Amino acid sequence: MIPISSPVLDRAEQEAASAVLASGRLAQGPCVTEFEHAFADYVGVKHAVATSNGTTALHAALLAHGIGDEDEVITTPFTFIASVNAIIYAGARPVLVDIDDSFNIDASQIEAAVSRRTRAIMPVHLYGQPSAMDAIMQVAREHGLAVIEDACQAHGAEFAGRKVGSFGTGCFSFYATKNMTTGEGGMVTTNDDEIADKARLVINHGVSTRYHHEILGYNYRMTDIAAAIGIVQLKKLPTLNARRREIAGLYDQRLGKLTGLILPRVFPNRSHVFHQYTVRITRDFGSTRDEVADFLKEKAIATGIYYPIPVHRQRSLQQWELANCPFAVTEQMAEEVLSIPVHPGLSPLDVEHVIDAIKSLGGMR
Ligand SMILES: Cc1ncc(COP(=O)(O)O)c(C=O)c1O
Repeated sequence: MIPISSPVLDRAEQEAASAVLASGRLAQGPCVTEFEHAFADYVGVKHAVATSNGTTALHAALLAHGIGDEDEVITTPFTFIASVNAIIYAGARPVLVDIDDSFNIDASQIEAAVSRRTRAIMPVHLYGQPSAMDAIMQVAREHGLAVIEDACQAHGAEFAGRKVGSFGTGCFSFYATKNMTTGEGGMVTTNDDEIADKARLVINHGVSTRYHHEILGYNYRMTDIAAAIGIVQLKKLPTLNARRREIAGLYDQRLGKLTGLILPRVFPNRSHVFHQYTVRITRDFGSTRDEVADFLKEKAIATGIYYPIPVHRQRSLQQWELANCPFAVTEQMAEEVLSIPVHPGLSPLDVEHVIDAIKSLGGMR
């Protein structure tokens, strides 16, 4: 079976993790500090604060901005539920704005959602494509709002030549399926000294000096084993992302002429890192999305639907009454999207196999 994701790990990660095991210093230590510095340099920010996962990075970033009860945070319904859960953990209310056909928040609709209580905008750079950061930063500036970027799927992606996670406060995930991994792990990135200091307190029980707790904090620390793996993965990231782009380019070239199949559109000024290559199976394709997924499974090709149920229709969030708006584009995308394997673990033969399988289903224009 060709998996939908597969981490690229070799001796280098094994040796790095073994060295930490041999040192006996397993929890947060020198590797975390080294990883933080390397990641901050990569993103082009002053500070990076390592966390236990992407969800805790989002929660810590919100708390570092002082967001809590009575506050509202604007984000999108077409995301992994962690984006919205983190807002709720902070005590704030998520306010959802529909997406456009980039799969990201429709920046032109954000201003209408701003209220007296709005404190932040949380764009999600879904599938590895940056959101419209120029328009989003402008609304944020005009209304005095923080921007907390959910960059959990977009390590290394750029908007107008600038890396995501450097516009506002960035939040990354290093979960096993991501473009780079530490197994579980996360990072908060910022140019703001105060936000960085506060995030450090939040993720470590509010500790300033040992056993002196300044604020209510959490244990959201990263381990040195994870960080050691992360240091190696970060060095590989440009090559891994380049391979993703190359595979995406082949899909673009070879699948572009199939009726009813809409390929991912890279918007101007964006460098997409293709965490997912997500096509839309529309009515004109001739087979339904489920039929395509089943057919590909028979051909030993795994696919994914990210996400079949938008946030506002999740049972766990019902009390928040988020479905106050039709979210027409989100609903359409939730019906149509299908992600096909694009990870760097694919061999050239795998890529050909995926292309041939999809072409054998779709009619040529
Ligand atoms: C868009 C988005 N936000 C947040 C998260 C949460 O990250 P983690 O799973 O590391 O907690 C993820 C990852 O799964 C994600 O894809």
